Order: sequence, then C-alpha cells, then structure tokens
Amino acid sequence: MDIMIAVQDACVSGQWLTAIILSLCCFLPSCLPAGQTVDYSSVESVVSRQGDTVLLRCYLLDGISKGAWLNRSSIIFAGNDKWSVDPRVSIVSSVGDKHEYSLQIQRVDVTDDGQYTCSIQSERNPRPKLLNLIVKVPPKIYDISSDITVNEGSNVSLICTASGKPEPSISWRHITPLAKKYDSGEYLNITSITRDQAGDYECSALNDIASPDTKTVKVTVNCKYISFFFLLQVPFPHYGLADT
Ligand SMILES: *[C@@H]1O[C@H](CO)[C@@H](O)[C@H](O)[C@H]1NC(C)=O
Ligand SMILES: *[C@@H]1O[C@H](CO)[C@@H](O)[C@H](O)[C@H]1NC(C)=O
Ligand SMILES: *[C@@H]1O[C@H](CO)[C@@H](O)[C@H](O)[C@H]1NC(C)=O
Repeated sequence: MDIMIAVQDACVSGQWLTAIILSLCCFLPSCLPAGQTVDYSSVESVVSRQGDTVLLRCYLLDGISKGAWLNRSSIIFAGNDKWSVDPRVSIVSSVGDKHEYSLQIQRVDVTDDGQYTCSIQSERNPRPKLLNLIVKVPPKIYDISSDITVNEGSNVSLICTASGKPEPSISWRHITPLAKKYDSGEYLNITSITRDQAGDYECSALNDIASPDTKTVKVTVNCKYISFFFLLQVPFPHYGLADT
C-alpha cells in the first residue's frame, strides 16, 4: 500500500519518472500491491525469426500519459530517454488518435527472447502491457557423416545433428524410387547392409519456422563377389612385372 500512495503522490507532483520506476517495481510479485493486478492471461505473444526487425506495439491513448519499456526487469526506455546501450532498440512513435509508443528491435536474436513490458503511466490508471517475444531459429544441419564405402553385410551407423529453435526433428530417407523412410532421430543404423541399400541417404531437419535443411550421405556397398574377384586379380599384374 505504501508504494501505491507513493506512486499517486509522485503523479500528482508530476514526477512521472519516479512514478514509473516505482510502479515498475510493483510488477515484481513480491511487491505487487493489492488492487493493482497484472492480467497475465492477456500477455500477447510476438513470434519472430532470428535476424528480423520486430515491433512490439504499445499505445499511450492520450498525449499526457508517459510510457516506459522494460526487458524483463531492466529499463530500456523511460519516456524518450534511452536507458539501454543496445543500438538495436528504438522507439517508434506517431501522433494520431492513438499515440504510438512501440519498441523496435533490429536483428533479434535468441537472447532477446522473453518478456517485455510497456508501462503506461496515466493519471487515472497505470497499466502495464506485457508482451512475450519468441525468437525462432531456422533448422541448420551442422554435422553429418561423410560418404562411406562398406562391404556388404556390415553394420552402418550414420549421424546427422542440427540446431534450431524449437529444436528440429531429424529424419532420414533412402533416396530410391520408393524413398524409404526410417525412424526419426539423429542416428540411422543399418544392420547387415545389402547391395540394394546402397545409394544416397538424405537427412532432413525440420521445425515450424522455415523449410527443412537437408544434406545427403552417399553409401557405397562393395558386393561380396566383386571383392572376391578383386582380391584374386591383384596378384597377376604384380607377377607379370616381376617376370620381366
Ligand atoms: C534483453 O535482456 C537480455 C538478458 O538480460 C539481453 O541478453 C538482451 O540483449 C536484451 N534485449 C533487448 C532488446 O534489450
Ligand atoms: C551388427 O549388429 C548386429 C546386431 O546389432 C550384431 O549382432 C553383429 O555382431 C554386428 N556385426 C558386426 C560386423 O559388427
Ligand atoms: C545407433 O548406433 C549408435 C552408435 O553406433 C548408437 O549410439 C545408437 O544408440 C544406435 N541407435 C539405435 C536406435 O540403435
């Protein structure tokens, strides 16, 4: 209650900045005064892609009220005073029937993910607007097995790992006219490989933000009888050379 009184006093005396800072403190659950509730169910979600410019919208509704923007509990802007040292953030304002006081963030990254608050300090009704910024990252395969040559009957284990947010799901398929799909996962294990399992295997990493990232691994299978003749043929030119 002390804080509420302090906020009101500060408003009356026009010290809006102090008022805002004091009222910002009230968003912390430990000092939320009775009667001033934050409606968490109305938190707006803004979904963006890593590298995009995002606009978190907020309106002051009249020309007298003041605003402030917070990233979690740190102040980015208090009115038009920039508190943040981050060059990517700026205020987009326009004076119309709605007084815009939106926060623009350039080149968003996953570290920007989280809750932002636009605090509107009006004489009657201080109201915070909460926004949840979600920064998604397209899938990217960063490691995949190299092309391999194996003998028929061997066990083959291929691996494919990818990054992204949300974490991408990995799937494998054998590129043949039938395009056989395998169980999803980073590993593709083939026990006792046969010659018709030779060819290209495509790894695909997918999440809900962009088209999948794909890469292929070529698996060459040496057929048993070819290896047999190959071994037999090797000595002949050798003997021929030794005779001359
Ligand atoms: C928000 O806060 C996080 C953690 O404190 C920081 O890494 C990030 O750069 C901030 N983003 C903006 C846009 O202020
Ligand atoms: C291949 O895997 C099977 C089953 O996991 C195992 O029984 C067999 O010994 C393995 N073969 C080789 C050559 O490692
Ligand atoms: C596939 O093989 C890798 C290593 O060879 C092993 O760690 C993994 O558990 C295997 N996965 C399955 C599903 O058998």
